[in-house]
Amino acid sequence: MGRIAYVNGRYVPHGEAVVHIEDRGYQLADAIYEVWALFDGKLGDAEGHFARMERSLGELSIEVPMSRAALTLVLRETVRRNRIRDGLLYLQISRGVARRDHAFPNPPVRPAVVMTVSSVDRAASEARAAKGVTVVTTPENRWGRCDIKTVGLLPNVLAKQKARAAGAAEAWFVDELGFVTEGASSNAWIVDGEGRLRTRDTNANILRGVTRHTLLEVIRNEGLEVDERPFTPAEAVAAREAFITGAGTLVLPVIAVDGKPVGEGKPGPVAARLRRLYIEQAKAAAV
Ligand code: PDD
Repeated sequence: MGRIAYVNGRYVPHGEAVVHIEDRGYQLADAIYEVWALFDGKLGDAEGHFARMERSLGELSIEVPMSRAALTLVLRETVRRNRIRDGLLYLQISRGVARRDHAFPNPPVRPAVVMTVSSVDRAASEARAAKGVTVVTTPENRWGRCDIKTVGLLPNVLAKQKARAAGAAEAWFVDELGFVTEGASSNAWIVDGEGRLRTRDTNANILRGVTRHTLLEVIRNEGLEVDERPFTPAEAVAAREAFITGAGTLVLPVIAVDGKPVGEGKPGPVAARLRRLYIEQAKAAAV
């Protein structure tokens, strides 16, 4: 059986799934998205992603297309039809289809909803986590509302490509004061010289990562110290450990920044432990 996508009320073979050329997501990036990690066919860390999705829609005054209960059913049905146990579930909601005009369509149109599922090789991602990844830095050049999870990702695309071209897994944006904001598709963390965890605070212009939020709870439950405070690339290099978080990466050790080894240049015990604890928690909060 091949991949199945959900498009505006229909389940269709992935290769035949299409949206209208005047979908505002396609023409104007007037759309939001969410990504859930799938564990054993269930949506991991589910609640936080639903809550952020609703917030993103609210911030852009895009109508909520269906109740949370209905949306959960459709998301789960999309996963079921793909017969995927470990993977990623992508949801995109655009303002809808209308004749091209920058301002909102008046009268409003129905939001357009698309879902896709892709599989993840968990053994391969565990092997990657055991090895660690490298990151490069790039100047922050995004708009001022990175708290909204929109599909307007061109700076992130270019940053990720810069990383890829350098043989790195992720790019960290660095603001004009020299502090890391976040990654192109992840949040950034270090374990400093005193063993204290550090990640950028959410008053900064970053995405409020669901993995980040849940991991903060895990960290506090473990009695570990954490500071929501900025760090520079030089502080990351001088740190004991560094790692990134996100639905795609979970908790992934970073072993070098711009070619300079972090700590001993290999994954450390804190990131490894937090990865295990986060996965347990994400599974416990799966639907
Ligand atoms: N990216 N920061 C950015 C810019 C992101 O795009 C993401 C997630 C995160 C981590 O958020 P969360 O923990 O809620 O996944 C932080 C997703 C996975 C993506 O674009 O595919």
